[in-house]
Amino acid sequence: MLRVLVFFIAVASYGLTRIERVDSHEESGEWHCDSDPGIRIQAEFKPGIITLDGHVDDWKDIDGSEFSLLPALDPDADKEYNSGKMTLKVVHDGKEAFFMLQVNGNYAYTKGENNKCPSVALMFQIGENATYHRMGGCEETPDKCTNKTCHGHEVDIMHFSIGNAIPGRLYGGNPVDKREGNGGDRFGHLVDVYAWNPHCRYLDGLGPSGNDTSAQNDWQGAWWHSCLVDHSGFVEEDSPYASNSQKGTYYFEFSRPLRTMDRIQQDAQFTIGKSSKVSAAFWYPEDDKPWHGSAHYSTSCDWISMDFTPGSSGLSKVEQRSPWDAATAFSLLFSVVAFCVSIFIGHRVSSAARTVNFAPIDNL
Ligand SMILES: *[C@@H]1O[C@H](CO)[C@@H](O)[C@H](O)[C@H]1NC(C)=O
Ligand SMILES: *[C@@H]1O[C@H](CO)[C@@H](O)[C@H](O)[C@H]1NC(C)=O
Ligand SMILES: *[C@@H]1O[C@H](CO)[C@@H](O)[C@H](O)[C@H]1NC(C)=O
Repeated sequence: MLRVLVFFIAVASYGLTRIERVDSHEESGEWHCDSDPGIRIQAEFKPGIITLDGHVDDWKDIDGSEFSLLPALDPDADKEYNSGKMTLKVVHDGKEAFFMLQVNGNYAYTKGENNKCPSVALMFQIGENATYHRMGGCEETPDKCTNKTCHGHEVDIMHFSIGNAIPGRLYGGNPVDKREGNGGDRFGHLVDVYAWNPHCRYLDGLGPSGNDTSAQNDWQGAWWHSCLVDHSGFVEEDSPYASNSQKGTYYFEFSRPLRTMDRIQQDAQFTIGKSSKVSAAFWYPEDDKPWHGSAHYSTSCDWISMDFTPGSSGLSKVEQRSPWDAATAFSLLFSVVAFCVSIFIGHRVSSAARTVNFAPIDNL
């Protein structure tokens, strides 16, 4: 059963200072957000069910959360993305976290032009003081952002732009970019990024105070649209893979290890039994017009809590222990019986032996 959690932004008609919509991330006016802190995404332990291919049939038994998509810079219910809500599902297999994003949208694809294709991003809190609003919320200007001045405001971002990505194929971390020690992806633009605010955003490993080649792109992912018909896998020459404007649904699937080798606060670290903070964003070329960076929709105007739940609840642990206890008791009983039987046989043998030993003497 799909548990539907709908997220509403109530735009109060009183006292709300409207935020001007501008082309950059510069905002004026007071930020207002009525988020529902009760919404939690449950990332359950479901090993061995998800294949990272953009097809989502393997997610059908996983509960998801549904979110209205409102403009990130102006979360006004009147400006909601008009083709439907975004569904977000998360599971883990004890080692990797898997994310599925699903959103309705007519097919739009222009090869090589990322902003004429839809695009998605996930953002996670790293630093304890990193706010959802303004991507970490470090107050420094771009020339003053450093890992010292913005310490505590780190956010982790995964951004997938599909203009060069073949549907159903895997993109993200790859050997060529990993060798260079950064979060880039030259093949499909599924990049691993960190930020302190919208203007201080870098590929993992790159930074204003120097590069650190211990970084890498820890993400992998694929995309698909329901109007695509797959025979034996697409190649680049098949682009645009289907005719444009067909009705349907976009699917995006991603995976990342729960823990990464990051030592410089550029990746969020996920822990089973603990909660993380997440947000998802969506760009769409509306009316065939290319989108620009800040004009994106978001699932919420604040962080959404995401719980990585352990594989077995207390109950199943008890259930697991009982057959073990029965087996232990049985083997103990069995060894006691065997011990008694061996003493009995030993006694009989030795009395028999005595009889046998004495018999010849008696017979002599
Ligand atoms: C977060 O902010 C609080 C209060 O300003 C401060 O005490 C704390 O050190 C900050 N944390 C980090 C990691 O900078
Ligand atoms: C860091 O790497 C980027 C991209 O490779 C390069 O442009 C920049 O000069 C490097 N910075 C330093 C300080 O080496
Ligand atoms: C900041 O980044 C530089 C370059 O990667 C690194 O040498 C330095 O240790 C970092 N400082 C902190 C406080 O993390």
